[in-house]
Amino acid sequence: MELYDLDRFHVNIGRGPAVILARLADHGLVTFNGLASRQELVEFARTLGTIYQHRDSQGDGVTVVADQAAQGDGYLGLTNSALTLHTDRSGVAAPPGLIILYCEHKAEDGGLSTFTDGARVHATLDGQTLDALQRAHSAIFFGGDEPYRGAVFEPVGGPGRVALRFRYDSYGYFAPDVVEALPHWWEAVNAHLIGFRLNPGSGYIVQNDRWLHGRTAFVGSRSMLRVLIDAPEMPKGFRAISA
Ligand SMILES: [Fe+2]
Repeated sequence: MELYDLDRFHVNIGRGPAVILARLADHGLVTFNGLASRQELVEFARTLGTIYQHRDSQGDGVTVVADQAAQGDGYLGLTNSALTLHTDRSGVAAPPGLIILYCEHKAEDGGLSTFTDGARVHATLDGQTLDALQRAHSAIFFGGDEPYRGAVFEPVGGPGRVALRFRYDSYGYFAPDVVEALPHWWEAVNAHLIGFRLNPGSGYIVQNDRWLHGRTAFVGSRSMLRVLIDAPEMPKGFRAISA
């Protein structure tokens, strides 16, 4: 994993939503600082789109991601365990476009935010692996009201554009040829894995249908605030770079 400073992805949120959304449309991942409270976070999120309500979120749409010693797949986020790279809400037809994670308290040790750019993975996979991962109905994701039958890479929002959807737990199931392709997938995902550590008052915004996100295991009272956003002004997915 390549470790980065937050500065590498920094966007000045004072420049307004149009600048932030443009940076996200280009890169799919930005970091920010300068928000002092949960209330400021919610107000900021509303400038980017509509806040998406989640099973675990509270009335303002904020989910407190902390170790609550939760039980079972689908609740691993609410423990101090590592979180395998995934996209959020993969089991619903229209997952939220953006995720904000804002750091209230950082871990004593561990708890790095981890990412892989799905556009880079897509660009480096061999044809056979890609064929399996983008074949319609080659994956089933649970977690929504009904199973979502789709694929890891799906055409979306215009010619050459691709959306990413992935989870690797008991809510995600794959056709045999996808299972056979998964070692190639993980090899590419791990080759492009990056990470950084959020500090209190800083956060990241990630494009959910382009980047995988996860975290490393941690000790201490790490507390993050998560807001999911439907951002209609963001282009869906990413433009595939043909080999
Ligand atoms: Fe997540």
